Amino acid sequence: MRNEQTDTLKRYIDAAESITVFTGAGISAESGIPTYRGDDGLWNTYDPAKFADIDYFLKDPAYYWNFFKDIRYPLIASAEPNMAHATLAGLEKQGLLKCLITQNIDGLHQLGGSRNVLELHGNTRRIKCLTCRLEYSMDEVFGILAEQLPPVCPACRGPLKPDVVFFGESLSRDVLDRAVKASRDCDLFLVIGSSLVVQPAASLPTIAKQNGAIVIIINKDPTPLDGMADMVLHTGASTALAGVTRQ
Ligand code: APR
Repeated sequence: MRNEQTDTLKRYIDAAESITVFTGAGISAESGIPTYRGDDGLWNTYDPAKFADIDYFLKDPAYYWNFFKDIRYPLIASAEPNMAHATLAGLEKQGLLKCLITQNIDGLHQLGGSRNVLELHGNTRRIKCLTCRLEYSMDEVFGILAEQLPPVCPACRGPLKPDVVFFGESLSRDVLDRAVKASRDCDLFLVIGSSLVVQPAASLPTIAKQNGAIVIIINKDPTPLDGMADMVLHTGASTALAGVTRQ
């Protein structure tokens, strides 16, 4: 369904030399993964202070691992990339999309064919031992959970933790620096499916704007940065991106 807004979006994309895209949970909602703060948001059911906080995780890891076993793993293991993921991979292949910055931990961008992906909050498909740093896949650990919860490292019996950034933890300096650079260096910064309330990620659109980029926000609900954007589409990611790839 094309309309004046999506036609304008296509014109901006066609005119761009270097696009940086910034995504949040909204782009994976169409793959069946609930957002955090939307109507179906995980935060409505699960207390983030318990299952997304590093101090609570270290104190009572079983709370997280039960959530992982019953909710997160089944959702992410069965999720497929959707049209919006595929469209972004297509723009990358065309050499237009230079960098994809995501807050998502589901790995769907890479499964959708994107290569240059900066994962600000890590990836739950990777699980690491906090003692020996050995890495396991989420499938391996899901297998361990049938026998043992919380799971321990098969090699050293140390505690395992998903390779995601919990509240109270710092983001990777290297990943954040590269995300800031990609925000500065682009001429079009496209936000897709984020409420833009979590820092430092939510400061990247402003950095792009301050460095002269056109900023466009595609999000079902209003965000605190709508006022500084050049264009805002309060619609679904796939609806907005339908037909934007260059012929
Ligand atoms: N298309 C576009 N936007 C959508 C869609 C859709 N199909 N479905 C929902 N949305 C929008 C909602 O309107 C909501 O504002 O996606 C937004 C998702 O916002 P959040 O749930 O807050 O997710 P996000 O911005 O990614 O959260 C940032 O917070 O909880 C932490 O670490 C977690 O990475 C996460 C960070």
